Amino acid sequence: MNPSGGLLWHWQAWRSQKRWEPTCKDIALWLSEKKPHGDELLLVGASAGWMMSSAWLQGFRKIVAYDIDPLAAPLFRWRHGQALRDSQTQLIWVRGDALNQLDVVLKAHRDALVLFDNVLGQIRFHHPDVDEASHRIASIRRRLRGRHWGSIHDAYSGPVRTPVSRRAHTPMMRSVQPPLPDKASQKRAGKDLPERAAFAAFGGQLDADGAWLDHLTGDLFPPGTPVCHIAWPHLDDYCHWLQAGWMEPV
Ligand SMILES: C[S@@+](CC[C@H](N)C(=O)[O-])C[C@H]1O[C@@H](n2cnc3c(N)ncnc32)[C@H](O)[C@@H]1O
Repeated sequence: MNPSGGLLWHWQAWRSQKRWEPTCKDIALWLSEKKPHGDELLLVGASAGWMMSSAWLQGFRKIVAYDIDPLAAPLFRWRHGQALRDSQTQLIWVRGDALNQLDVVLKAHRDALVLFDNVLGQIRFHHPDVDEASHRIASIRRRLRGRHWGSIHDAYSGPVRTPVSRRAHTPMMRSVQPPLPDKASQKRAGKDLPERAAFAAFGGQLDADGAWLDHLTGDLFPPGTPVCHIAWPHLDDYCHWLQAGWMEPV
């Protein structure tokens, strides 16, 4: 059973297209601001590309898409195939675990821009032990040193007070990853201090109600990285807070 993809995900995505449309527009806007770097895109967690912009994909000469889900490749071709044929973009699909094999995958595509497409926030569902999941996310970040890469991922998710169908879409918010707190303030305020300002601002706009799930991606981007915060009304009464950013090679 795939906890972050598979038949249930595709069914939900297909049924939710209208509710997810404003989120897809935000994602397309964020993507459009990143001009294709080089010729090749390595797309990890591509699924059917339910939330992916065909127009952005068309900017690449070659796309290598990875997913563990056997349904992902045919559905991705169904959704984006024509656009990619129009732009003469070569599409190569690999059904496989790109996260556990990340070193090998990165080596095979040395010059590709890497995009983790809503997959890193799901790691905690694949590894229910929170420490193990955090450790895996940190290790992925370390392996990406020297690469151009980006990620859009769940930061938090949880219930909202007012059903999304009765509210206007929460507009995308931009911020910069805050500096790490010094030891004294960390001790005073707890270890989640740097996320509080963003949580207060965007969490309030999302109409968050009660406790939200932390997807353990808070440390993925280092301090100073520009990030976009995007509202994703997964269900009418349950929203995901997506975070998206790009990293230059360091
Ligand atoms: C939330 S979905 C991605 C949504 C997708 N980007 C879209 O626009 O439709 C997460 C995807 O990541 C895939 N996935 C999870 N772990 C993976 C891994 N280790 N390697 C490759 N794909 C993985 C899942 O199968 C699932 O299709």
